Order: sequence, then C-alpha cells, then structure tokens
Amino acid sequence: MRRFNERHVFSNLLAAGELGVDIIESAADRLAHFHRCTPRSPPRRAYGLADQVQTQVHAILAALDRESAETVAAEVRAWCGLEFARLAEHIDARCAQGFVRECHGDLHLENVVLAGRNVLMFDCIEFSEALRWIDVISDLAFLYMDLHAHDRPDLGTRLLNRWLRATGDFAGLRAIRLYIVYRALVRALVETLKARNAEGADGRTRASRYLQWALEAVRERQPCLLLCHGYSGSGKSAASAALAPLIGAIRPSSDIERKRPAPFAPLLERALSRDAYLPEAVDFQYATLLSLTHQVLEAGYCALVDASFLHHEHRSRFAALARSMQLPLVILDFRAAPSCLQRRVRERSMGAYQPSDANETVLARQLENADPLTREELSSTVVFATDVPIASFEEPAYWKPLLARLHRAGGLHDEREETQW
Ligand SMILES: Nc1ncnc2c1ncn2[C@@H]1O[C@H](COP(=O)(O)OP(=O)(O)O)[C@@H](O)[C@H]1O
Ligand SMILES: [Mg+2]
Repeated sequence: MRRFNERHVFSNLLAAGELGVDIIESAADRLAHFHRCTPRSPPRRAYGLADQVQTQVHAILAALDRESAETVAAEVRAWCGLEFARLAEHIDARCAQGFVRECHGDLHLENVVLAGRNVLMFDCIEFSEALRWIDVISDLAFLYMDLHAHDRPDLGTRLLNRWLRATGDFAGLRAIRLYIVYRALVRALVETLKARNAEGADGRTRASRYLQWALEAVRERQPCLLLCHGYSGSGKSAASAALAPLIGAIRPSSDIERKRPAPFAPLLERALSRDAYLPEAVDFQYATLLSLTHQVLEAGYCALVDASFLHHEHRSRFAALARSMQLPLVILDFRAAPSCLQRRVRERSMGAYQPSDANETVLARQLENADPLTREELSSTVVFATDVPIASFEEPAYWKPLLARLHRAGGLHDEREETQW
C-alpha cells in the first residue's frame, strides 16, 4: 500500500501548477545521488549494450504497430535506425565505463512523489533486469521527456542542468535524444494499452501526445554557443541559470566544474586553494569547459557557458569551436557598476554556501587585467545591465535582444520554446 499523498505525485502536482523549480531540482539531486550509489556491475554483460537497447526499441515499435491505431511516423523509425548505427560504439563504451547501473527504469511523472521535503521514486521496474540495468542517462531521459511531453520544457531543462551539475556526466548527452525518443515510444504504448480498457478518448490523446513529442525530438536542430562574459559579481551565474530553461540550453559552469574532482564524484564544498587560480590552472579549467561544451553542442543542445571569459585567448578557443561546427556564437556581456560588483561579491561570500570563491581581491585583479572585447567580438555581443531586480532574469522581456538575435540565427527551433517568449 502506498503511504503517501496522491496529490503529491509529480503528475498531480504538475496538473495543479504546484511542481516548482525547487522540487524539480531536489528530484535531480536525489536521482544523481541514487545513480552515484546504485550497483554498477551488471549481472549480464549484454545489459545496456547497443544491440540490447535496439532490440528493446524494436519491441516497442512492433507492439505499437499491433496495438495503436495511430502509426509511428516513418521519420521516427528511420531516425532511430540511423542513430543506433551512429551511436553503437558510444553506447557500448558507456557499458565498459560503468555507466550501465541498476536504475529505476520507469521514471515518468506518475512514479515520482514529494513526501515531506523528500522526493521519492517508486514502482521501479522489478520484473525485468534488462529494463532496470540501463545507462544512467537513459533513466534521466525518461523524466526529462515526460516534462517536455507535458508542455514544461523549462522544468525539463532545469532537471537536466541540475543533474549534470550533480554528476558532470556531459559525456552521456551524446545518446540522450535516442533515449528520449525511446521513452516517448514506451509511454505512447502504455497509454495505448491503458486506453483499451478505459472509457473516453483521454488515453488515446495522451498516447498521441507522446508520439508527437517523439517526432519533435527527432527533428534536426541547430544549436548555438552562448558565452557569458563579465566580472565576478556581475550576475553571470544568477542570470544564466534563469535564462537556460527559457531557451532549453545546457549550462556548463566554471564555478562548478573546478570543484569536481572527477565525473560523478561529489563536488568539493569548500574554497579551493590559491593554486587553483594560477594562470595554468585557469587555462586547464577553460580546456575542461571547452570539452564539455563540445559534448553539449554535439548532442544538439544550445550551450550557455557560465564563466567570466575575461581573457581573449579563452574566448577565442570557444569562438573557434563554434566556427568549426558552423554554429552561431553570441557573447552575453553582463555589466554592473564596480561598487555594485564589490557589494555583491562581499555579500555573496558572507551568505549561504555558493560555489564561487571569488572575493574582492580577485575582483580587483580582474578589473585591472581583463582584455576588453575586440571589435569583432563586439559584433557578436549582447549587453545586459544586471543592476535590475533579480526577478527580471526570469522574464523573457529581459532577454529580448538576445532572443531576437537567436531567432535570426536560427538558434531557437523548438516551437514550444518560442511560444514561451
Ligand atoms: N540583479 C541582482 N540583484 C540582486 N542580487 C543579485 C543580482 N544579480 C546577482 N545578484 C547576487 O549577487 C551575487 C553575485 O552574482 P553571481 O550571479 O554569482 O555573479 P557572477 O556569477 O557573475 O560572479 C549573488 O549572490 C547573486 O545572487
Ligand atoms: Mg558565477
């Protein structure tokens, strides 16, 4: 017997408009913790290998052919075939690297509940080891997909960014779209089967929505590269955290990545030594961020890189990446008066723990040594004054000049994302 309040199941919270950002971020942290601790030696070698996953997807497609009145779009089938061919080596390598673990396996919105302040995930796949021993990113993709299919791409992006912040598993993104499509097909089948035994057209509508979402997910997209730029305290982290869900962007962050000893290792919750801020160490951190950014862009997502980018040599490496991938680049120049920067940095270090270690000394050094944006860089730059109420960052109106530029460059592709403006 379930001992929790049905009203607090995520699907019900969402319908009531009560599934807030805090709850989603707790779910992401909880899931990341579970993925870190769960057993990682599959009882059979085949679990999670590309052949096995492909067989599972084919089984769902065959069942949909038999059971569903609505056919799965040919585009979706063809795309899945091409993706398995393209990603087989990657999927198999993830097994070898230990990312196939004993997961939940059925992580849709009806299987997650808020119990007090905790998020609990229940009804995991018990009947099949093969469906439970999966890549951790496939587990996450389920909930991400379900939030999108319920017209909350913003919450989906919050979940994904928070899980990536907790795990650092950017490498897993490469196959996430394939898992998203697979999960949408699974839910389409479940809703189709449920609708057979129920009155009314609701179940069929739900099945149809998942099939529609699978089709949207396979459509080509053009990602873009967005770089934050600004001194410590200019509001890069606060503003970009609010922007990411508005545009479906993934946000690698220097504050976070420099505190991650290794992927999946917990973040250090203390200030780093001064060595971490020597030029060679900073170069190394930008190189790490560059590689994560590459992974985000290759996966087809817009990357919003949260770092100060005060030196031209770091910016130019990211610009070269955008050029080599033929993707649009936009620099978001966050500005506030020096007195405001100083006050924010001081207050930040006195408040609750925040991952940035920058203090007033670091800020003073930045103000002296930063390389100004070049004329060429300025032509790709949008300026944002951040001495505004912090809630403005959540408002599409604040980002209007950027959005207009992204639309022109073709970097906003999801219609539902566009309608959020
Ligand atoms: N517009 C704002 N109004 C009030 N506080 C802000 C505003 N922007 C940022 N802050 C606060 O100032 C501090 C510095 O902002 P943060 O985003 O961490 O800057 P950065 O990432 O550029 O170093 C944080 O504590 C943040 O919450
Ligand atoms: Mg920051």
